[in-house]
Amino acid sequence: MGIVCKNHVFTLQTKSSTYQMKEEGGFLFHNYYGPVIGDVDMSYLVCPMDRGFSGQPQEIVDRRFSLDTRLLEYSAYGTGDYRDYCLHAVYEDGSHVTDLRFVSYEVKEGKYALEGLPAMYQGEEKAETLEITLRDEYKNLEVVLYYGVFEDLDVITRACKIVNQSEEQVRLLRAYSMGLDFDNKDMDMLHFYGRHAMERKMERSPLQHGFQGVESRRGYSSHQQNPFVILCKQDANEEYGWCYGASFVYSGNFSIQAEVSQTDLTRLTVGIQDTQFEFHLDSGESFTAPEVILSFSENGLGQLSRNYHKAIRHNLCRGKYKTERRPVLINNWEATYFDFTPEKLVAIAKDAKELGIEMLVMDDGWFGKRDSDYSGLGDWFVNEKKLKGGLKNLVEEVNKAGMKFGIWFEPEMISEDSDLYRAHPDWALTVPGRSFTRARHQLVLDFSREDVRTYIFDRMCEILESANIEYVKWDANRHLTDVWSAKLPADRQSEVFHRYILGLYDFLEKLTQRFPNLLIEGCSGGGGRFDAGMMYYHPQIWCSDDTDAIERLDIQYGTSFGYPISTVGSHVSVCPNHQTGRSVSMKTRGVVAMAGTFGYELDITRLSQEEKDMVKIQVEEFKKYYFLIQQGDYYRLTDDGRKSPYVAWEFAAEDGTEALLNVVTLRVRAYAMPYTVRIKGLKPEAVYEVEGTGEKYSGAALMNGGYLLPVIWDDYQSVQVHFVECCE
Ligand code: DGJ
Repeated sequence: MGIVCKNHVFTLQTKSSTYQMKEEGGFLFHNYYGPVIGDVDMSYLVCPMDRGFSGQPQEIVDRRFSLDTRLLEYSAYGTGDYRDYCLHAVYEDGSHVTDLRFVSYEVKEGKYALEGLPAMYQGEEKAETLEITLRDEYKNLEVVLYYGVFEDLDVITRACKIVNQSEEQVRLLRAYSMGLDFDNKDMDMLHFYGRHAMERKMERSPLQHGFQGVESRRGYSSHQQNPFVILCKQDANEEYGWCYGASFVYSGNFSIQAEVSQTDLTRLTVGIQDTQFEFHLDSGESFTAPEVILSFSENGLGQLSRNYHKAIRHNLCRGKYKTERRPVLINNWEATYFDFTPEKLVAIAKDAKELGIEMLVMDDGWFGKRDSDYSGLGDWFVNEKKLKGGLKNLVEEVNKAGMKFGIWFEPEMISEDSDLYRAHPDWALTVPGRSFTRARHQLVLDFSREDVRTYIFDRMCEILESANIEYVKWDANRHLTDVWSAKLPADRQSEVFHRYILGLYDFLEKLTQRFPNLLIEGCSGGGGRFDAGMMYYHPQIWCSDDTDAIERLDIQYGTSFGYPISTVGSHVSVCPNHQTGRSVSMKTRGVVAMAGTFGYELDITRLSQEEKDMVKIQVEEFKKYYFLIQQGDYYRLTDDGRKSPYVAWEFAAEDGTEALLNVVTLRVRAYAMPYTVRIKGLKPEAVYEVEGTGEKYSGAALMNGGYLLPVIWDDYQSVQVHFVECCE
């Protein structure tokens, strides 16, 4: 198990997977990634063939050897591997050729860290690191490949560092984090596309020759495409088949591409997208490419997802709320939008408290001149006219009502109509003298600049320290354009996109260190920056601005492939829903919001007594199921909602002692066939009681025969069934 290095064969073993590389003749080849095969040298599978137009390195005379047709570990541009490459460097002599050869390796206890970047950490799970150094001898450019091996999690992480050991300057035109070669093309790609208020819809298609993939050039990981993909055998389903996942731990521009080559090999590359990317390395400088979390499952997509859920929950998310129960919150955005008073907020807090809710979050509109989205961003001073009596007073009132208090910020943004912009127009990302692009009437602050970050950080700290604030919603409501920084010379402007993200991470690291008990919920107009990178700082992220329960079924379904339930911000909102006009029962809204962090986003003071009674029950139930939902094993029981008359999912305790089945009907049929759902994750020999009905079944019966759902009348209705292990 762990890392085995024998005769220059490097084998990384996890519980259920083996990953292997081999050094031969100075080249680092990829040998294998798949089910456990021990440390047998898999290079016996290499079948050298002479392929026309695929050349040989100078010292090799055998025409059957070409980098273009072999499985490589990290490919550099310019020496005859014509497939998608990981590294593209330009040297002072104008040459674009990099020839990476094996130098050395080192095995280390524990998991490597990446300076200034989020990455998985060791935690309680055992982890080991393998570092392999490659070098271009002619230009003294070194590449250190990092491998983190989490045996029990079935996870292997990759990242790399490119070091300029020469006396000259090197320009990196591409510095991807990894390439992963497969010896076949018979796989499907699953990716997660969308738009604002419709994030992470799953799409599955077979690989074809040429390129297919996802990327973002928006500055953030984006609503439109997500930096997580799966490659799986074409017969793979939830419970069966080989699946490979790649999750990029990065929140900015990214590219994940699969290329099927002339010889039917597949190469998956992951890295920072290289539009307007050119990083300069002076002598002695280095560039660190962000981490990729790889996982393999031979038991289908469900197991692959559970591998990611656990890895992110245990070894990426941090802070007190990684394990502690988070408060059930109520947010005033859809209740009041910008139009609120302290009295209104306190009234919401008081009614919410009565129903078991634990925290009030004051959303956008409490600072500067901010009664609409035309103005105020950047002026992080309490609007005393609106918050008569001040913030401290309001927080005290809310605390007195027995509720915690949370607050909204949008730190990376600036409105032209703000004192901050009037004082520092150059702090916004714009090109001097040129017209610029607004989105939601706002501009983006240049977070690559330390002075800008320090100012906003100090403002934020002053607010957070002025009252008992226990939660922050960190929003970011547009993507980047006009990317140019007043602080960098002309030849460094192509570093701004990445420096912005490094600046953001630096800010968040400082904030989490200064306020270790603060719960920070990420948000970017909903799930526009829902990525593993942000999860290092935010244990939860607002999943979508679409709060309609039926729409959320799809959004949360797609999200669940790569991200744990504990990260999925989801609330019960009012009906008719503000984004779709659809009306859905309070029960169903609750069941869907419980497949996430759970909370409310409505004017609770205006609910009927009957609705309030339901809220009270829902909150109690959520608290009761909290650890089962947030830390249990998650199972998707139906495929993409639109193909099935109902959607079902389940949370099962890791030790198999209980499970919670959730079902929402989509389109009921007349005299429909009875629906049976096979329950997962139970102990076959144990007996389970259905809470509330007294029915008893063996685990084997429930898992193999299934549970017969009660007949459900009408669309968009729901049931929750709790199975608890009991004595016979
Ligand atoms: C977008 C967020 O996703 C909403 O929940 C809300 O916070 C608004 N921004 C406020 O402007």
